[in-house]
Amino acid sequence: MLYLFPFLALLLIAGVLMVIRSGNRSPGKYLYETRCQNCHQEDGSGLKALIPPLAASDWLFENQDTLACIIRHGLSGPIHVNGVFYDEVMPANEKLRPGQIMNIINYINRSWGNEHEKIRLREVKKRLEKCEH
Ligand code: HEC
Repeated sequence: MLYLFPFLALLLIAGVLMVIRSGNRSPGKYLYETRCQNCHQEDGSGLKALIPPLAASDWLFENQDTLACIIRHGLSGPIHVNGVFYDEVMPANEKLRPGQIMNIINYINRSWGNEHEKIRLREVKKRLEKCEH
């Protein structure tokens, strides 16, 4: 019986590691970390006068309909976020698939105290149609 212990211990460790990994690596979080976090920061607070916040952003609240298009095609020109004026350029992410855009939206919509509705793939596709050229 004893010879089974190392084997069982390994199995347990592997299981725990898998749970930790899946917890930390939700697809939306991973995409945010690799595509957005450099600018908008890990806590969604933005960067001084250059990058607007996503955490508690009134813009995010009011522009859920155009969010998918912005993530895909970027954003430029003057905007106000929580009363602060920004006029910078956010780059496009032309290669992101609708499912990936959905995961990013659902991540930023439910992080840092944000409590916006979750979005479904069908809805993301519909919204993206409005900005296809
Ligand atoms: C290179 C820096 C940069 C990256 C990377 C970036 N953004 Fe932005 N983002 C900006 C800037 C700058 C603005 C403001 C644009 C303007 O002034 O018109 C902005 C604006 C926004 C806004 C609207 C304003 C607000 O804060 O609510 C949202 C939403 C947003 N970004 C989400 C994202 C998401 C999601 C990603 C990742 C897919 C991302 N951004 C990646 C720089 C960036």
